[in-house]
Amino acid sequence: MNPTDNRVLVFAGSARAHSYNKHLARLAATRVEDAGGQATFVDLRDYPIPLYDGDLEQEQGIPEHARRLKELLATHAGLIVVSPEYNGFITPLLKNTLDWLSRPDGEENGLALFRNRVACVLSASPGGFGGMRSLGLARQLLTNLGVTALPDQLAIPRAGEAFSDDGNLKDPATLQRLDQICRRLVDTLVRLNPHAGR
Ligand SMILES: Cc1cc2nc3c(=O)[nH]c(=O)nc-3n(C[C@H](O)[C@H](O)[C@H](O)COP(=O)(O)O)c2cc1C
Repeated sequence: MNPTDNRVLVFAGSARAHSYNKHLARLAATRVEDAGGQATFVDLRDYPIPLYDGDLEQEQGIPEHARRLKELLATHAGLIVVSPEYNGFITPLLKNTLDWLSRPDGEENGLALFRNRVACVLSASPGGFGGMRSLGLARQLLTNLGVTALPDQLAIPRAGEAFSDDGNLKDPATLQRLDQICRRLVDTLVRLNPHAGR
């Protein structure tokens, strides 16, 4: 881990312009900053990557945008993955993105990129359960890649009414819980790497 690294990469598994999960991801990034970390929000809309195809990989290598995301991940010790729920599962966009990131690129072992990374998972849904069924699956996928996923998580139900116009969560207790999760993530990064700035 980079000795000055308290950086957290934040992205959501939705490309939709008005995505609730992107909304939550943007908010989480600001709360990471408030907790003393450095956050980078990434909109996967800006990183269009084809569906994984072994032939395409063999012929053309890692797609340009996947390589750019790999470079970003390499400079961040923390990750916040905000996962919409599709049919009780994570989205194809999230799975495809992480699959491409896990692929080796030249001499670089794909999974090395995930080692020593610490993550937490969040979700939002217009439904009453907030997409919580995706959370365990997102955590499992991250763990399979070698990431240490913190047990803290948050699912925002009825997401259409959950956010105020300024982008905050309307419910103070839910916002407090988000802050707690972001603080724990930053604290963990600092503990794992005592030289990290705050
Ligand atoms: C194919 C599909 C399946 C869905 N399945 C679920 C589901 O299992 N649980 C749920 O809470 N919402 C489900 N939804 C609704 C999504 O939560 C909703 O579209 C949400 O806005 C997607 O996240 P986003 O706003 O970040 O794009 C589903 C939506 C789609 C398109």
